[in-house]
This record gives sequence, C-alpha cells and structure tokens, in this order.
Amino acid sequence: MKLFSELFKTADWKVEKHVPAIDCPDQVKYGELFTIKVTIGKEIAHPYTTAHHIRWIDILFQPDGEKFPYQIGHFEFCSHGESADGPDTSSVYTHHEVTLSMKTSKPGTLYATTLCNIHGLWESSKAVKVE
Ligand SMILES: [Fe+2]
Repeated sequence: MKLFSELFKTADWKVEKHVPAIDCPDQVKYGELFTIKVTIGKEIAHPYTTAHHIRWIDILFQPDGEKFPYQIGHFEFCSHGESADGPDTSSVYTHHEVTLSMKTSKPGTLYATTLCNIHGLWESSKAVKVE
C-alpha cells in the first residue's frame, strides 16, 4: 500500500501540463502582503471540459524551522460545461487559475497541489525568502 504522499506526481511545469506553476516574488518584505498566482497549464494548456478538468488547487506554506505547514487557501473549480442538457452544453467553464495574497515573517516554502479528475494529484513548490 502506498502512502498518500506517494500519490502526488511532480515535474517541470513547462513540460507537464498538470504541474501547478507558482508565480510570486523570490524574496518578500517582512510582514508585508505579497501576491501569489497559481496556474495549471501555464505553458501547455490543460483542458477544462466536463470529461477532463482540474477540480481544485490547495496552497500551503511551510515556514523554515517550524514543524507543520499552514494551509493558505483551498480553491475549488466547480463549473465544467455541464448542464441539464448534458456534458459540455453550458456556456460556463471555470478556469483553473487562482490569485491570492499572504504575508509571513519567516522564510519558507510554498506548496501548490492540485487534482485533475482523470490524471490524479500533482504538486510543486517554491522557496520564499524574507528580507
Ligand atoms: Fe488532466
């Protein structure tokens, strides 16, 4: 039996469309808000159809030297073209991209995880320094 953590795949987001691309400053100011944008399919588009789409993005931050990570946000994408007329018949599709802000007084690592409804769990990370 696999550990849950072993179910997550990762790769370079430039060549694998499922890997979350994390855009934020490499270095932020102590205690000041900064913006994070997480995108699935930034370089190679990922479909968003009823049959194949991204369900959610989860963002966590692990401060250096602390024991546990903090959940920064969980974002569900709920419209995938479905309607009472069937799959891919509505005019509404949620795009799998999210922008949020946070602040920290410690450097650490941002983790982004995501679930594709047919290709499973993916993750990526990015170090954040504090000046
Ligand atoms: Fe997929």
